[in-house]
Amino acid sequence: MNIEAVKLAYFSPTGTTRKILQGIAEGLGAESIEHIDLTLPEADTRELKEIRDDLVLLGVPVYEGRVARTAIPRLQRLKADKTPAIIVVLYGNRDFEDALIELYDITKELGFLPIACGAFVGEHSFANENRPMANGRPDFEDIMKAKEFGLKIRAKINGLDVIDESSLIKPPGNTTYIERDRSAMADKAATTVEEDCTLCGDCALLCPVGAITIEDVVKTDNVACILCNACVKGCPTGARVVDDPMINKIANWVSKNFQARREPEIFM
Ligand SMILES: Cc1cc2nc3c(=O)[nH]c(=O)nc-3n(C[C@H](O)[C@H](O)[C@H](O)COP(=O)(O)O)c2cc1C
Ligand code: SF4
Ligand code: SF4
Repeated sequence: MNIEAVKLAYFSPTGTTRKILQGIAEGLGAESIEHIDLTLPEADTRELKEIRDDLVLLGVPVYEGRVARTAIPRLQRLKADKTPAIIVVLYGNRDFEDALIELYDITKELGFLPIACGAFVGEHSFANENRPMANGRPDFEDIMKAKEFGLKIRAKINGLDVIDESSLIKPPGNTTYIERDRSAMADKAATTVEEDCTLCGDCALLCPVGAITIEDVVKTDNVACILCNACVKGCPTGARVVDDPMINKIANWVSKNFQARREPEIFM
């Protein structure tokens, strides 16, 4: 198969998933890299994309131990025909639980053949200076590990005569995926500190679910917001915040209890 041309398909509101896929592709030494960015709302209505011959790297963030829900229908607009895939989840140093096995099941259903899987660590969406959670990751070491993973994938593919069902690598995780009650979070959203806001509109352009509109003030659709923190991290004046007592409590707990550095895990 052709590994000189790879496709990267990802949902990545704060960019850590994209960085890791890029690192893996560089390690693979591919001559051409095509990005299929599923982060913004237009990915919900894009034309169905058929992928046959090129190797595909698919990546999503872990939300509550699962594949970020918004990514699923967007991934489902990709169609494959026994196309080899590398699947990757990014998590904020707590745990990836059933996200990788869920991504494996989703991609297999779409016709991909996941032949290598990885769980990498990125700065937690709710991290800040006072509440560190893998701040600054993926760092140099993580990117080096992503590149090494890419090198190993190249060696693996070169050593295979054929890629078929027997080449599949099933990652760890439960078949009945973990289910958390998130009803209390359903109407929580990022908000704006109006006196710090210049109405520049950057947050609206970054929002993966189109939850932000700019009028005489910034308006946020609380129900649509998935709390991805893209607007918080991308606001040039620091005016966007997620400042809710319940979310702060959970985020502080994660920060306090999951400080030990977790390392990327690969399955191949
Ligand atoms: C709603 C939500 C839930 C999350 N749940 C988890 C989790 O269960 N475990 C974890 O380690 N990180 C969790 N994270 C952190 C993200 O997985 C992490 O920040 C990831 O790197 C974000 O990817 P991105 O930069 O591609 O958007 C969560 C983040 C959000 C926004
Ligand atoms: S990015 Fe920040 S400053 Fe710009 S409109 Fe949004 S909240 Fe206001
Ligand atoms: S409004 Fe919500 S969904 Fe949109 S970018 Fe901000 S945190 Fe993410």
